[in-house]
Amino acid sequence: MHVIAHRGASFEAPENTLVAFERAIDAHADGIELDVMEVDGEIFVFHDRYLRRLAAHPGRFQDLTQEQIRALRVFSQHPVPTLDETLAFIAGRCWVNIELKSAVDLTRLLSTIEHAIQAHGFENEQFLISAFNHHWLRDIKRARPETRIGALSASCMLDYATFAEILGAYSVHIDVDFVTPELVADAHRRGLLLYVYTVDEPEDILMLQEWGVDGIFTNHPRHSRNVLDGL
Ligand code: G3P
Ligand code: CA
Repeated sequence: MHVIAHRGASFEAPENTLVAFERAIDAHADGIELDVMEVDGEIFVFHDRYLRRLAAHPGRFQDLTQEQIRALRVFSQHPVPTLDETLAFIAGRCWVNIELKSAVDLTRLLSTIEHAIQAHGFENEQFLISAFNHHWLRDIKRARPETRIGALSASCMLDYATFAEILGAYSVHIDVDFVTPELVADAHRRGLLLYVYTVDEPEDILMLQEWGVDGIFTNHPRHSRNVLDGL
């Protein structure tokens, strides 16, 4: 079962920052999940629509200019990296799940991925693009069919796998509250991997491993890895 650092090792360091990504790699995470939003054609790594929680600033992230974002400090300390800077930093040391939190320019996103493959030591298989908005995923798959996409679902949908199959998804990403052993088996029968968010409790980690879940998004990859290793 893969350990995927949720917004980086966000228990140990401010989420979605280069420090959190370095900590995730240090904790031997298999993958890093990060959130992106586009502003003026640039793709930034940031989770919230509003700035209050992360940057103690009024207003919305996407209402800022690129210059204002460059001046922001997450929890008063850490710059907001661009996706390109982040991929240059991770440099293929683990796989990356890019979750789209806003619509992004497809050409820009796909060229950033291509550049990371050409210049930053990544393989195509080290990228997985996910979103709750499946229209965006469909457009990506049409534009670049070899892209792995992950269909996010925040609820227990009646026919959850149909949309994943229509999309040609690689994986389905589901909230821990809705996973059952039957769902795991059904996803696997359909050739889909099942990833579960957000999982930090040892009891949940071991239960999901027993059910055959393919990966967990965890805020604390070091701890989750230890639980899986029986430490
Ligand atoms: O990708 C799984 C999970 O990160 C989705 O929820 O709010 O943490 O981005 P959120
Ligand atoms: Ca996310």
